[in-house]
Amino acid sequence: MGCVVSRIAEDVVAQIRERTDIVEVIGRHVQLKRAGASFKGLCPFHEEKTPSFNVNPLRGFFHCFGCHTSGDVIAFLMQVEGRAFGEVIEDLGRRAGVEVLREGGSSPDAQQARERAEQRSERERARELNARVAVLYARCLQAPIGEPARAYLAERGIDGATAELFQIGYAPPAGTLLAQKLPEAGVALELAERLGLVVRRRHGDGFRDRFWNRIIFPVVGPGDEVLGFGGRLIAPSGASSERRADAGPKYLNTPETVLYRKGEVLYGMAQAATGIRQGGQSLLVEGNFDVIQLFQHGFRSAVAPMGTALTVAQVRLLGRFAPAVVAIFDGDDAGRAAALKSVRALLEGRLEAKIGVVPAGEDPDSLLRKGGRAALQRVLDDAVPAVDYLIDELRKTLDDSIPGRARLLEQVAPIIGLLPSRVAQDLYVDRLSFAARLERGVVLRAVREAAGGANASGPRGAASSRTAVAAATLGARSEVGRAGPQGGAGAAVPADPAADAPESSELELLKLLLGHPLLLPRARQAGLAILLTNEQLRATYAAAEAAPRDGSGRIDVVELLRTVPVTMRDAVAVAASAKDYLADGDWTKAFDDCVASMAARRADRILGAVKGRIARAEQQRMGSGEAAAQDKRRLIRLTGAQSRIRRAREQHQAETVWALIHELVEVEQEIHETQ
Ligand code: UTP
Ligand code: MN
Repeated sequence: MGCVVSRIAEDVVAQIRERTDIVEVIGRHVQLKRAGASFKGLCPFHEEKTPSFNVNPLRGFFHCFGCHTSGDVIAFLMQVEGRAFGEVIEDLGRRAGVEVLREGGSSPDAQQARERAEQRSERERARELNARVAVLYARCLQAPIGEPARAYLAERGIDGATAELFQIGYAPPAGTLLAQKLPEAGVALELAERLGLVVRRRHGDGFRDRFWNRIIFPVVGPGDEVLGFGGRLIAPSGASSERRADAGPKYLNTPETVLYRKGEVLYGMAQAATGIRQGGQSLLVEGNFDVIQLFQHGFRSAVAPMGTALTVAQVRLLGRFAPAVVAIFDGDDAGRAAALKSVRALLEGRLEAKIGVVPAGEDPDSLLRKGGRAALQRVLDDAVPAVDYLIDELRKTLDDSIPGRARLLEQVAPIIGLLPSRVAQDLYVDRLSFAARLERGVVLRAVREAAGGANASGPRGAASSRTAVAAATLGARSEVGRAGPQGGAGAAVPADPAADAPESSELELLKLLLGHPLLLPRARQAGLAILLTNEQLRATYAAAEAAPRDGSGRIDVVELLRTVPVTMRDAVAVAASAKDYLADGDWTKAFDDCVASMAARRADRILGAVKGRIARAEQQRMGSGEAAAQDKRRLIRLTGAQSRIRRAREQHQAETVWALIHELVEVEQEIHETQ
């Protein structure tokens, strides 16, 4: 990453960060709710049931109080979408209208432009080309040549606005659209070939298009990037199978490419993201037309796996937007088989899943066209929890023989073992033992055994290794637990029982410094570095002093989060999210008061230490020695300092307090040396 970072000018990155709405971008992946000045949601980097993931739009950072992951919008996208820094920057730059030029290229002549383009990763170029191709197909749909496609869409009840929203296009029958247009635009067909857009001619030289005579459905990812395409043959639905045979399969999709992995994409993801987030639930259907027809009928949360058996990766993608899903299957045998196969992936992907079934002979598309919204709403209302569906269906297909009952147990027990809730597991154990007419203990054992196996290598294992990866990118997560007090300036004094948890005045101080960077020079004058006894807090203060400033002159929280000890990230995030900024002027007073309060506490502690030494010396009958006499003088000096600090605090004489701090530290040092 390092070398890429240096090639993009820092101010460009800052500009992009400033112009990007972090709530909007993160909101595409996480369902966020406003909480004061911040937003809250379920953390995408670890599994949790109560939201500890916070986004702060004012300071431009996110932070999870559960797994301590934090960063800016760029770091977020890199981690969630698994993309490189340069790619994320290009993408955000495009959206924010900031041109991203790599440093080192000043004159934008063709040669250099080509070289720069060469440097960009294959994925970036792929995204660019796919976006351009989607536009070409969409234009064909609108052009005179697109008449048959428009007629077909009209016949299937898709209106123009919906077609536009889904960027639907048309690949004309000639099969030369891309093979001709792309070279004219300076695009190398080899790249187009790698993206599955064109194929080499079997006879003769050159390329021809992969898609022809098809309605084109761009598959758009959650970051609005065109990942690939699905193409449906244009033929009246009743056309003879012969005609279909010459023209290829009814549906043809992009093959595996750098952007399109068929087990990881979902058709309609970009269009449904908002609806899923807002409704807290996604709808999973089988076909592209189902997705679109649902959208047109106001169900704006549907996606479809492009002809693949549902995978856990696809389910996890959905889970980033909402915890619940209703998977809708056709009422025929194929639909029921698909439903059964999907249950495992749905539960392994940790979704609260229900299964809905449309009447035999229909799919959501046809059902909506015949029965409207209400007909589909009935399917949703009648949807049953995935495990119930599985038990009911298998009971229908498996006979009541011993092998049949054994198979029922074998197939359902592992699925029950996937449920996150023990209570739910127990309830399903009851149901299954009833359904298979087996003793409860037998069923329970099968479930526990399956769950045990799953723990080692199954979804739980996978989930925790994902957390481990996130932690590794963050640095030592093991530090998070309890990093004890680590000596430092306060070491001479008996350990403060709460030394690893900064006291409230110290946190208040952090809040002030983050809100009002002009206080930093004052902090230096006050000798804050020596006043802080908490090692972690001192490191944080040092990092704050060194941190760059954001556009408004405040400490850049993202940088600070990156450089502070992991144990301090929560405190920094809290401090940076404090919305009660004090009115002008007041914060200097608040700062001084914090410092005075810390000084007073410090005096108390040193005094306590000296008293302890004197008491010990007396116990050991050494109370009359020279050392004891010195301690007694120190006692007097400290008591004096203590009351002077109190008085100076009351009279708001900050400088006096600062001077006294140095005196305290002097005494402390002496104690340390004579220990
Ligand atoms: P179907 O072929 O089952 O749906 O494909 P359908 O309802 O009969 O098709 P339409 O409505 O007339 O167009 C369902 C989905 O499976 C994928 C496509 O995404 C399609 O929408 N599919 C199907 C493929 O990807 N490849 C195929 O060969 C077939
Ligand atoms: Mn259909």
